[in-house]
Amino acid sequence: MFAHVSVLLREALDLLKPEPGGRYIDGTLGGGGHGEAILTASAPDGLVLGLDRDDQALAAAGQRLHEFGARLITRQASFADVREVLDEIGWDRVDGIILDLGVSSWQIDAPERGFSFRSGGPLDMRMDRRQTLDARSLVNGASEEELTRIFRDYGEEPQARRIAARIAAERKSRPIETTDDLARLVEGAKGGRRRDHHPATQVFQALRIAVNRELDQLEKFLADGFALLRPGGRLAIIAFHSLEDRLVKNAFRKWSRACLCPPRALVCQCGWSAKVKLLTKRPVVPSDTEISANPRARSAKLRAVERL
Ligand SMILES: C[S@@+](CC[C@H](N)C(=O)[O-])C[C@H]1O[C@@H](n2cnc3c(N)ncnc32)[C@H](O)[C@@H]1O
Repeated sequence: MFAHVSVLLREALDLLKPEPGGRYIDGTLGGGGHGEAILTASAPDGLVLGLDRDDQALAAAGQRLHEFGARLITRQASFADVREVLDEIGWDRVDGIILDLGVSSWQIDAPERGFSFRSGGPLDMRMDRRQTLDARSLVNGASEEELTRIFRDYGEEPQARRIAARIAAERKSRPIETTDDLARLVEGAKGGRRRDHHPATQVFQALRIAVNRELDQLEKFLADGFALLRPGGRLAIIAFHSLEDRLVKNAFRKWSRACLCPPRALVCQCGWSAKVKLLTKRPVVPSDTEISANPRARSAKLRAVERL
């Protein structure tokens, strides 16, 4: 049930270079694939702090990685709040961090989690099921303008306005409760199926990003994520969405700059100095072989930095 094929596994490991005795953070433990590779490469005594917002993911990864015993510490938390977790477990800075953003295949495939238009279930989409906002409350409670913005900005859905209008009209007579209800409604608003993908693909992706405030989480981490690394420590991030990749690219560029003053400033007044070295001038992308074995990998972009 918890099968998830890790994306860019070898490439991420080559960049992180885990070593025995090191301390690492897997901020998106998920199925535990990257975590397992880090634990294996840092044997016999490297430690991994594995975070996930999803309690089911943590439980499954804990089972899979059982053999590593106390070398794996897990916590249900967002990577945006990793500083608090480090304080709690008494760690200061670490040797490496990996974030493999988005959702796992098994989350998508589990009907009761409500992520997919393919498997009928409640409109949920929460990674952390302790949170109150879910897709049902967003779809039935957000204004038509807000829904338009979500579908347009997070899903790049060209018919965002039309779909939001259809939802607003439909929910006047009865609430939209299930993934099937929403998928049918979007299909109706867009006028039928496409050959390459289901017409509700972008709307579902957009709602998932909004429900889980995925860009806010990433922005919070990227505000000063470099400070979690000891000198020589490395951070690798795999993004699947262009908005996420842009945030990562811009943060890494800023962190690597020697000065943040406007170009015309004669004397530096910003007090900034370079925090990292870029390890990937361009993003690393999956090979054709990986994409044909795992089509979910096709939009992945991996970027990495090393703390100075
Ligand atoms: C793509 S999967 C990770 C797969 C994992 N690297 C592997 O190889 O099996 C992403 C995971 O990150 C979790 N996640 C997403 N955003 C998160 C966040 N802000 N903080 C912690 N976990 C998050 C999801 O619940 C999901 O389990």
